[in-house]
Amino acid sequence: MTNLKQVLTADISCQLLYVNETQASQVESLQALIAEHKLPIILNTELVTEKLNQKRRQQLSQIATQPILLLDEKDKLSWLSDGLSVAPEWDKMQRRVVSAGRKSELLLQAAKLTADSQVIDATAGFGHDSLILASTGAQVTMLEQQPLMALLLLVEQLRMSTLPNWQKLMSRLQVINTDALTYFARFNNYLGADNEQAIDVIYLDPMFPEDSYQDSKTGKGAKVGKHMQALHQLAHPPTLDEEQQLLQSAQAVVSQNGQKQGRVIVKRPQFAPLLADQQPSESWNNEAVRFDGYFV
Ligand SMILES: C[S@@+](CC[C@H](N)C(=O)[O-])C[C@H]1O[C@@H](n2cnc3c(N)ncnc32)[C@H](O)[C@@H]1O
Repeated sequence: MTNLKQVLTADISCQLLYVNETQASQVESLQALIAEHKLPIILNTELVTEKLNQKRRQQLSQIATQPILLLDEKDKLSWLSDGLSVAPEWDKMQRRVVSAGRKSELLLQAAKLTADSQVIDATAGFGHDSLILASTGAQVTMLEQQPLMALLLLVEQLRMSTLPNWQKLMSRLQVINTDALTYFARFNNYLGADNEQAIDVIYLDPMFPEDSYQDSKTGKGAKVGKHMQALHQLAHPPTLDEEQQLLQSAQAVVSQNGQKQGRVIVKRPQFAPLLADQQPSESWNNEAVRFDGYFV
């Protein structure tokens, strides 16, 4: 298969398969969303009438020279990665989001958010952690460098906004297709110390080498799920230099938070080395993950 990491560094040509003629208006809405958010994606649309069973999906992704998006018979958009359909599927997070609190979510213990907090999730991915952060009432700006992932997030936000139970939470999310370093640099250059957009927490969950989620000796640690497997086709783990830049510029952003203490929270597999080799102020961990907090 073509190396998607290379394909996705420039404008992306992407194949959009849809399964029913009546979906023409959904395809148009997708095109409009891409234009509105200036996503560098070129959609090549194709109506497929054959049955897309698991075997066929596997074949399609094996011969693909460009990423494949699928609009299924239920109008759900997913990305066909190694034969598996992956999508944010925020509805599956409902129970976790409803019961999310500092007792049940280590991330919330680490982030210490209140309903008026401003958060940047600088590595949004499928947006699952953003939902946990936003469950507190906080406003969450979601940065995602990969246009394809940003598109999946925007589509999911629109879809979930039509569900009454989710509308308020959806209105607290803002998805931006950008590299976090570019966003932080702009923030640090243009905004003064007492600006209204002061950021309380920046959350970083950068990629981690695929084979390093579990302890090699004991086998303990997180199993890599299908969402994370798919992301490994799109995004590289950062180099040490990139880790240092990310952590430093995130710390610079939260340090502009007036009198309040800002914090950068970093998610790592439990046994992973520290981001940028930097000692955190405090850490929280369970048997799978660790959150390192850098207080500024
Ligand atoms: C490990 S995943 C994050 C998963 C996410 N926490 C979730 O709950 O789904 C990392 C994501 O961050 C994105 N990413 C990595 N470095 C980035 C950067 N410098 N700026 C913006 N996005 C970045 C990757 O494209 C990938 O989608």
